[in-house]
Amino acid sequence: MHLSRREMMLQTGAVSLGALASPWLGSWQPVGADEDDVPIQSPRVARFERMGFGMFLHWGLYSQIGRGEWAKHFQKLPTDEYMQLMKTFTAKDFSGRALARLAKSAGMRYITLTSRHHDGFSLYDTRGLSPYDVTHTPAERDLIEDFTTGCREEGIVPMLYCTTLDWTDPRFESDWEGYQKYLRASLELLCTEYGPIGGFWFDGNWSKPNADWQTDRLYGLIRKHQPEAMIINNTGIQKGGQVGHPEIDSVTFERGRPQPIDRRGHPKYVAGEMCHTMNFHWGLATRDFNYLSPAHVIEELCSCRRAGANLLMNMGPTAEGAAPPYERAALERVGDWIEIMGGSNSAITAGRPAGIDGEERDFGLAVGDDVHLFVYDLTRTADTQAHGASRGAGPRKFTGLARPVKRATWLDNGEELKLEQSGDALTLHATKYPYGTNTVVRVARLTTG
Ligand code: GLC
Repeated sequence: MHLSRREMMLQTGAVSLGALASPWLGSWQPVGADEDDVPIQSPRVARFERMGFGMFLHWGLYSQIGRGEWAKHFQKLPTDEYMQLMKTFTAKDFSGRALARLAKSAGMRYITLTSRHHDGFSLYDTRGLSPYDVTHTPAERDLIEDFTTGCREEGIVPMLYCTTLDWTDPRFESDWEGYQKYLRASLELLCTEYGPIGGFWFDGNWSKPNADWQTDRLYGLIRKHQPEAMIINNTGIQKGGQVGHPEIDSVTFERGRPQPIDRRGHPKYVAGEMCHTMNFHWGLATRDFNYLSPAHVIEELCSCRRAGANLLMNMGPTAEGAAPPYERAALERVGDWIEIMGGSNSAITAGRPAGIDGEERDFGLAVGDDVHLFVYDLTRTADTQAHGASRGAGPRKFTGLARPVKRATWLDNGEELKLEQSGDALTLHATKYPYGTNTVVRVARLTTG
């Protein structure tokens, strides 16, 4: 069923794009698009988009092996042997509050934690649904409880990753109805025992693409118990950007560049989220040295926001549940950058695409009545120090600026920049970094009026 903007607003009481957005959003719709053709955002989707940057955590028994979250599968560990890891799962250093503090200092607004991963081990008390849960470990506390309360204490929105693929529950292979009931009962616990959850992030339907995942019933539980929660389903690396079920609130781009979502003619406005990880594994992998630098994360974050998508940046906590030192330091460094660029409630999160584009990777976002221009490659980034291109200081051209611009200033040092505007085109005379600074992506604030 395709509802027009007006019909949807009447039926759902939802916020219209126009009501939420700045005057710049008028130019965001592709030229020629009928306004009636673009669905409106529901309040939960609008809130999600404004959060912009989140932390993904993969943590479980596999963290004790330190070879990634697929260790059981790739090392062909029999379930009995693997589940011995429950005996040494102490969660000694796990603190939802400490992780939420780290997320906050990284400029993130939400955390998505694996409540259970494909190995079938749950971080919460399954109340007898499964023998593989935290109550059968020396941790002796419900870690989802710790996580959700810790997040809320720090003003971070807790979200839960839920696997649908299960390597150790026999019903997954031999009793599909029983397995579906188990999935629903697990989800119902997560929906009812831990207060308001920002979203549920499903992963694993790709393992049996032709199976009946009974998603109407599964997602129905969320709509019943947690109507404000986002529903996300990871479509996997090959299928980034696909919507699938009509209840889905955000498409995913696993380790892939998000593309702007063309929402014309869609029955519902969906958000976008790219998930990426600090090295090449999601769970802790102590022999994986292939780390992203803070510069790289900053660039990824900016390119996600250019497409209007969130970035969900993953790390794998240690066997005991602490943030590993490199990831901690790198994410805090990204947080320093966000702070310089106005904090976690500014351009980088609140800014929306508005059809303002520059050359190569440069782009603009609308922030209230103003615009922020994101300027790349003033120098080489650390990752490509030896041979990467740098365009250096000088004129940078942008298009799509429908309103007169009064002033342009760098956010990092307040320096006023020369500019020329002609019609919707603008040339910004980007100056070089003052000696002693380099923000990788430099942001200029345009004051309009
Ligand atoms: C994949 C993997 C999984 C990881 C997820 C994160 O689907 O199976 O290990 O949790 O990606 O996006």
